[in-house]
Amino acid sequence: MDIQQVAVKLLQISFYGWELWGNFALRNLEGMIQKKSRVVIAIFAVGVTSLMSFLKSEPTGGYSFKGSPTTKEQLGEVLFFEKALSLDSSISCASCHIPEHGFADTAAFSHGVGGKLGKRNAPSCANVTDRPYLFYDGRAASLEAQAQGPIEDKNEMANTIGEAARRLNNDAQYVAWFQKVFQSAPTPELIKTAIASFERTLETSKTPFDRYMVNEDSTLLSISAQRGRELFFNKAKCIECHFSPDFTGDEFRNVGLFDGKKYNDSGRYNITKDPKDMGKFKVPGLRNVAVTGPYMHNGMFKTLKEVIEYYNEPAKVVKHPINMDTTLQKPLHLSKQEMVDIEAFLVSLTDDRFHYKSQLSAPGKK
Ligand code: HEC
Ligand code: HEC
Repeated sequence: MDIQQVAVKLLQISFYGWELWGNFALRNLEGMIQKKSRVVIAIFAVGVTSLMSFLKSEPTGGYSFKGSPTTKEQLGEVLFFEKALSLDSSISCASCHIPEHGFADTAAFSHGVGGKLGKRNAPSCANVTDRPYLFYDGRAASLEAQAQGPIEDKNEMANTIGEAARRLNNDAQYVAWFQKVFQSAPTPELIKTAIASFERTLETSKTPFDRYMVNEDSTLLSISAQRGRELFFNKAKCIECHFSPDFTGDEFRNVGLFDGKKYNDSGRYNITKDPKDMGKFKVPGLRNVAVTGPYMHNGMFKTLKEVIEYYNEPAKVVKHPINMDTTLQKPLHLSKQEMVDIEAFLVSLTDDRFHYKSQLSAPGKK
């Protein structure tokens, strides 16, 4: 690439960044500051996002390693698939975060050790590098801190991190691998460091959507998905909460799936005890969402079609939601075709490495 090509590329990526962040920037800046400084901040935001999108457009790979681990990422990958981390050596992280399903679970509630049922749907653990909060209620602030959760959760791996480390210390192969990578015997801290490092390699951006945005080539995205993108950003208001390169603003919002009765997971409120947080959940990113069903914290929707129909008219599903976001209080009045188009757009966020579940994803069709 010569300098001119690089400049054009950067400009294109800037527009891409602006599309994903602009809404947020404007929503938060409006009224707060003078017009002049608004422009300066907007330019700054575009710059930062350009850089982020640029980095995002160079995926580091992940989940491909075979043989003896020599880096902390590779060692973390081995541990991610290691059943000995669970009490009875029956499940690993990958049992619930299934690689072919975008590192999410296909069951509404995952089965842990002894067939115990958890209380929430297992989300994807790909594209988590930039997340400031983890879990639906945001109770973990880093991937390192998060990793201990499932190892010790009674409904998941039901072990202790100390016991997990002890087992690895009894395994000559692990001792040698930890020596090579960390110049240390296995410790709880290093187990968490390795797993978190592996998770940071699971960034995905080889998708029809990214190719279309970066190359500005309209043949790279189906016409239906292009219409869906337009709806996502405007009429359907999805961008209000699903923005940024991973389609989440990392905020906690209430989409109306809490009524204190049938739907009684109060989400973020469990952590903060602030009544304003009642029924709020961390907005999930939408990359690879076509392969990560079922959906929502409770896995109540099996398909993307059901999710979109819900957003179109939430009151049809939950009659008396508590503390529901004002953005969603009126029906969207989407036509059948418009809902198909939004689904096509969501499918276009699927990375090439995952099996496409739907014909809709094939570029150039429809
Ligand atoms: C028995 C099933 C199960 C196992 C085993 C399991 N998880 Fe999870 N995982 C879940 C569930 C369910 C959630 C959501 C819980 C919640 O939000 O309260 C989750 C959430 C996560 C998240 C947060 C994602 C986000 O965007 O907030 C990460 C990261 C994660 N798990 C990684 C791991 C790692 C690493 C391991 C192995 C050490 C592991 N999980 C083992 C079921 C499981
Ligand atoms: C007011 C904020 C808000 C708006 C607007 C919004 N979402 Fe969401 N979205 C969320 C939250 C919060 C969740 C998680 C809710 C839960 O788990 O109970 C979610 C979950 C989802 C999921 C499920 C993801 C998963 O992995 O389970 C999909 C798909 C989705 N939204 C797509 C959309 C689409 C398409 C639109 C526009 C029609 C939209 N969202 C509008 C906040 C929002």
